[in-house]
Amino acid sequence: MTNNKEQWSSRFGFIMAAAGSAIGLGNLWKFPYITGTNGGAVFLLLYIVFLVLLGIPILLSELSIGRFAGMNAIDSCKKIDSKWGFAGAFGIAGAFGVMSSYCVVGGWVIRYIINSVTDAGMSADYFSEFSSRGLEPILWTLVFMAITCFIVTGGVAKGIERVSSILLPILIVFLLGIMIYSLTLPNAIEGVKFFLVPDFSEIEGFSGFMRIALNAMGQVFFSLSLGMGTLITYGSYLPKESRLLQSTVTVVVMDTVIALAAGFAILPAVFSFGLEPGGGFGLIFQTLPVVFSRMNGGTFISAIFFVLVLFAALTSSISLLEVIVAWVCTKTKLTRTWAAIIVSALIFAAGSLASLSVGAVPQLSVGDVPLFNFFTFMSDKVIMPLGGFFICLLTGWIWGIPNASEEISNSGKLKFRARKLFSVTVRYIAPALIAVIFVTSVFSGE
Ligand code: PFF
Repeated sequence: MTNNKEQWSSRFGFIMAAAGSAIGLGNLWKFPYITGTNGGAVFLLLYIVFLVLLGIPILLSELSIGRFAGMNAIDSCKKIDSKWGFAGAFGIAGAFGVMSSYCVVGGWVIRYIINSVTDAGMSADYFSEFSSRGLEPILWTLVFMAITCFIVTGGVAKGIERVSSILLPILIVFLLGIMIYSLTLPNAIEGVKFFLVPDFSEIEGFSGFMRIALNAMGQVFFSLSLGMGTLITYGSYLPKESRLLQSTVTVVVMDTVIALAAGFAILPAVFSFGLEPGGGFGLIFQTLPVVFSRMNGGTFISAIFFVLVLFAALTSSISLLEVIVAWVCTKTKLTRTWAAIIVSALIFAAGSLASLSVGAVPQLSVGDVPLFNFFTFMSDKVIMPLGGFFICLLTGWIWGIPNASEEISNSGKLKFRARKLFSVTVRYIAPALIAVIFVTSVFSGE
């Protein structure tokens, strides 16, 4: 096991890369809708509570393990305890699973950028017709995967950091611009109400409350890229004098601000044109194209919007590919370039099957579930929570709070005032919460 020689070149670059991993499709298509349909402000409040109880401790644990060990996700966990490599292995398996569907969606986004420019296919029905074409979506998947692969072959500082440092600030500035535009549309207030006004009827009874809480926890997990080894891998490229707690809080705040900005950018526009927001992919690929087609200057805004979605997806997909590539490079004699090409080819193969499963070849399924949904379910609902669960146990019980605190405080050079809170959350609260999410979501089969 050798330590990584590659490092981030600056604190800013690392923050952009880590926030870039967190800020992705989860912020742009999932957060606005899930907030609106889960009681608005009620969801938001719970989301913030879970950011503190779950998001910050796990993110901090992953970064600390990575920086302490300076190796890929599996070997970093092994360095803490030789029997715990499996905790990192969850991440690598999960990254493969998430990427197999993420690259398909990334391909759709590229197609929609072109649609905006050519003004074709901006109706609600277009999406199902397009996604069920056999070959074409696969070609766009290939384009998305090729761009991701190309960035990762550039390495940590010259590839991932440089690209994230350019794309993320552009995303933030233009998203805020679209938000302001959207909020000034007639009737925009209806969208704001849907997004934020507390809807207590949603929390009638214990089961209603539990449903909202579970959705909030799941969203914290996915949105912050937890339990995937991404942050262990990114932490392994940090110099020893970096400030782990400060970086963690910055990434969490940025991810949340962008999720909120996405809600304020998307929902007021949807309501202003008298539409109802659909969930998930429907919101971005079916509802929004109709909104853009009715808007003054809609073609232009649509093109900008889908470019931003592409940027968000790319800065997340490079982090997922990097988790696997970092591991393959240390396990084989392959160079980074070859490792990235081979892993990308395998992901593309899985992604092609996933793409066909939601369109041309529905027989590609596990039971009744199309492969695309199966990959998403396994990675989001099974592997990610288990990965996060074991990271908490590894940090809290095996490595131990004194050792973890030594790393977080840079051997006592920095104050770590939240040590008690960290200890309680990482040892007890976070594992217990994850166990609840896991059991409930797996057994409800959602
Ligand atoms: N956080 C990303 C999003 O919100 O879209 C998704 C993601 C990226 C999940 C990287 C997990 C991961 F390791």
